[in-house]
Amino acid sequence: MSDYDIKDINQAEGGRRRMDWAEREMPVLRQIRERFRKEKPLKGLRVSACLHVTTETANLMVALQEGGADIVLTASNPLSTQDDVAAALVNQFEIPTFAIKGEDKVTYFKHIRAALEHKPHMTMDDGADLVSSLFFIEMGRFEKLEPSLASWAKGLSDDERKEMLKNVIGGTEETTTGVIRLKAMEADKVLKFPVIAVNDALTKHLFDNRYGTGQSTIDGIIRATNVLLAGKNFVVAGYGWCGRGLASRARGMGAQVIVTETDPMKALEAVMDGYQVMSMGEAVKIGDIFCTVTGDINVLDGQHFKAMKDGAIVANSGHFNVEINIPALEKMSKGKPALVRPFVEQYITTDGRKINILGEGRLINLASAEGHPASVMDMSFANQALSAEYMAKNADKLEKKVYSVPEDIDKEIARLKLEAMGVKIDILTPEQVKYLGSWEEGT
Ligand SMILES: NC(=O)c1ccc[n+]([C@@H]2O[C@H](COP(=O)([O-])OP(=O)(O)OC[C@H]3O[C@@H](n4cnc5c(N)ncnc54)[C@H](O)[C@@H]3O)[C@@H](O)[C@H]2O)c1
Repeated sequence: MSDYDIKDINQAEGGRRRMDWAEREMPVLRQIRERFRKEKPLKGLRVSACLHVTTETANLMVALQEGGADIVLTASNPLSTQDDVAAALVNQFEIPTFAIKGEDKVTYFKHIRAALEHKPHMTMDDGADLVSSLFFIEMGRFEKLEPSLASWAKGLSDDERKEMLKNVIGGTEETTTGVIRLKAMEADKVLKFPVIAVNDALTKHLFDNRYGTGQSTIDGIIRATNVLLAGKNFVVAGYGWCGRGLASRARGMGAQVIVTETDPMKALEAVMDGYQVMSMGEAVKIGDIFCTVTGDINVLDGQHFKAMKDGAIVANSGHFNVEINIPALEKMSKGKPALVRPFVEQYITTDGRKINILGEGRLINLASAEGHPASVMDMSFANQALSAEYMAKNADKLEKKVYSVPEDIDKEIARLKLEAMGVKIDILTPEQVKYLGSWEEGT
């Protein structure tokens, strides 16, 4: 395979300008990059990264490169790549990048193959497609692989397949869905190296999942449709970290927000936060706009499409495109959907209703918008960079488990972010430290 596979190298200058724009909002990552340049903590390490190819990711790649890593980058979603950024990484930073916005499944996995052929010492995943492919190949479970990746893997000798895994000292994982998959691998005893769950850091999910997904999902829905949110019934499926952010941002735009949940605690929290909470069966009768953000499958299913209003707008911001059962909608529709605007496919049901699916059911904030703003990705990717450094230094002491980001790294990122924002906080006095650590003082 060649050194890169991108849409158009001529877009590099525009991509570089947008990378620089994002970098201005990433002061924590900048400090890490400057230290990495001097200390080279990743020297000699081959890193295969499978991440959304955005301006923020590009800045992370540059930081890792300055830390001495030899990187290959592949997309973690067929629709999330920013082609100009991919071009800038190849043209201006010589980082082999394999990502084309709108690539089909075969190309997506051809690109994952390029990341595997890099023979990584470290993996950096967003959704665990890279690590799961690596394990299926090593286990010889070719039936679980996309057919073209399977046929390549079958052509490798047993030694070559095992060798691919032997090199890996550890990995990191960016998102909730990936962490769930990795913990399932650990429980099934198939996880073969330690992985740091970047998503579980407080400086990641409290900000990225909540404020980042909240804002950018609204941005994606508006860019795709240009609808007014004020006065609309906006249904948010899932009231986890992302759902909370999305619900609060939709309310801020004047929408009537309805939350659906399966977890009684989260549902209760949504009720007390002032939202209407009901089953999806009820919500579909009144919803104008729907957005799933659960990490689950078939949250919007055939029975829901049957009851949806004419003109409903349906999007997903959860990791995989399985939250909306699009095949079920296809079955109850007349002919193929029409692309009525970029990222808006309109299905006409056999009873004549129009249902609009945004971004093929893929993460709408990355499909039709630019993903999270750089300021939150600053913290997420500071976690990635410092976790990679931690893994490089400590992999030999770690077990084949999913680890949290060490608390001192998490706290240091919060401190650096506040410092960069010019926000000062109080420091506990010795008297307060003593008081908070004692049990003797009472009424
Ligand atoms: N769009 C993005 O850029 C972005 C960013 C971060 C995370 N994610 C992804 O978004 C998804 C959610 O992440 P999170 O951090 O909010 O997870 P979370 O675990 O905090 O929340 C998910 C919520 O969905 C609920 N849920 C599960 N099945 C449901 C169903 N059938 N109906 C209604 N609710 C249901 C769960 O009870 C839970 O409260 C994951 O797939 C994650 O990887 C996307």
